[in-house]
Amino acid sequence: MAVIGIMDSGVGGLSVLRELYKALPGEHYIYYADNANCPYGEKSPEFILERCREITRMMLGRGAQAMVIACNTATAAAIAELRAEFDIPFIGMEPAVKPAALGTRSGVIGVLATAGTLKASKYLKTRGRFEDDVKIVEHVGSGFVELVEAGDTASQHAREVVGRSLQPLLDAGADNIVLGCTHYPFLQELISEMAGPAVKVIDPAPAVARHLLEVLRERGISETDPHPGVELHASGSDKVLNSIWDFVLKSLTL
Ligand code: DGL
Repeated sequence: MAVIGIMDSGVGGLSVLRELYKALPGEHYIYYADNANCPYGEKSPEFILERCREITRMMLGRGAQAMVIACNTATAAAIAELRAEFDIPFIGMEPAVKPAALGTRSGVIGVLATAGTLKASKYLKTRGRFEDDVKIVEHVGSGFVELVEAGDTASQHAREVVGRSLQPLLDAGADNIVLGCTHYPFLQELISEMAGPAVKVIDPAPAVARHLLEVLRERGISETDPHPGVELHASGSDKVLNSIWDFVLKSLTL
């Protein structure tokens, strides 16, 4: 049986859980939104690591056999330490710079992420591998996390907030835009509409789901749990968490 823990600072990781659930519907997922401490984007790596440790211990107590850190900021801040300290596999997030670099025709790619992700050495290393071949422009998605946590992904206000961070990337000529924060896929429709059809917007979650499948196979963790399903937990209010997951489930069964 496979019990999989999955965490984020809030509802963003549901964009990853959606892909995991599509690819592996027979598992038992325990999702934890640390929304009492959201956003993580401006918090110190030490604080985030401590939260990840605590949540991992809680997940182990509930039988988790693998942990998905469905948060780019937490992956950058904590995954190396978590892998060293705990005896289960950890799957993390990384901005999908590679597919963007391979797909660009303009030679310019854009990365939207939190401040924490963009200044982390993990991201700077990834950037370093590609910056001789393509121009990489970045922008913090200021206010994006707050929009998604409030369940506001389509209003005029959301459009203005998104425009402020997206426009500089479009002005620089980016034709591939990487969503480097798991909250941002919930704004993907709006971002794609504002960027226009010539711009590809990349969500790394499907690749993470494929990676999890590989890890489970490698470790011999079976791919069907006798009690499949999804448990949602939050350190703060679970209202938006439940309503977004309901929406995701409906969209999957359409
Ligand atoms: N969803 C997170 C990420 O992927 C964190 C956003 C935040 O809490 O600032 O980076």
